[in-house]
Amino acid sequence: MPKARLAVLISGRGSNMAALLHASRLMADCPYEIMLVAANDPDAPGLALAAAEGIATFGHSHKGLTRAGFDAIIDAELDRHQISHVALAGYMRLLSPAFVEKWQGRCFNIHPSLLPAHKGLHVHEAVLANGESVSGCTVHLVTAELDGGPILGQARVAVLADDTPDSLAARILIAEHQLYPRIIARHIAADQAPLPRLRALALALPKAREKLSHGAPGFFVEGGKFFAYFSDNHHGSGISALLVATSGLEEQAMLIEQDPGLYYRPPYFGASGWIGIRLDTGDTDWEMVEGWLRRSWEVAAPKRLRRLVTGI
Ligand code: GAR
Repeated sequence: MPKARLAVLISGRGSNMAALLHASRLMADCPYEIMLVAANDPDAPGLALAAAEGIATFGHSHKGLTRAGFDAIIDAELDRHQISHVALAGYMRLLSPAFVEKWQGRCFNIHPSLLPAHKGLHVHEAVLANGESVSGCTVHLVTAELDGGPILGQARVAVLADDTPDSLAARILIAEHQLYPRIIARHIAADQAPLPRLRALALALPKAREKLSHGAPGFFVEGGKFFAYFSDNHHGSGISALLVATSGLEEQAMLIEQDPGLYYRPPYFGASGWIGIRLDTGDTDWEMVEGWLRRSWEVAAPKRLRRLVTGI
């Protein structure tokens, strides 16, 4: 599997960029490689740091440009380097809707608070003013809402009684450097080889067990039925997907019509209402996958167990 080609966008120091870079070189089987570091300030110290490490850099001031115009310049540079994923690391720019839309599911951000608390700027001041005893950092997918996309991982950092915004920021930064490479690697690895993550989610459901079914990993509820299968390149289709039960043919048809790039009618399942959900799009929404597994589990579980778990 070729590595994901990651670009890191920075505005200043670039210590998170450096953490991502060194982790990618140290981590066995790291699924990403940094191919470009770009900044909206040609003098950003992080650019020199990246260049010294042999990484391609691009610095361009945003001054005098519209947001969309500047983002188009950055985007053209990302395309020139055949970038597959983007990590924002201290990139102090709001992104244009077109940029966010294009990179949806493949653009990460790190923010120095335990989101959803303290979005935006002056985070540490707010934590201290509130007298909070714990803060931390969050890695999330970038969406149109500032610091509001799906959370992929967090690290907690204790607040000390004599903390200043600077001392707290410095300790959180240490956690950021640990968190960001791990979360990006985990997320990309799950997209490249989805079975381990799918298995972990499926087997976390009550009394869920795994068994091969026609050569494919299947998941069933003890005393009940199968609720999910993993289909990998079935009959040379080149598709890897999760198969789960919908409420029936009507819902199946509706989903496929809504998003034919994600959902499909699995062959050999007849008129069962089961649906295929592609896990090879490169931007799998794992929360959505978890939701489907739970729904399908509820259909497959014996009544008594379902009632115990769901109350219905
Ligand atoms: C980091 O603390 C990062 O979380 C924060 O800027 C710092 C950049 O440091 N980002 C934000 O506040 C984004 N809202 P770095 O340049 O050394 O990585």
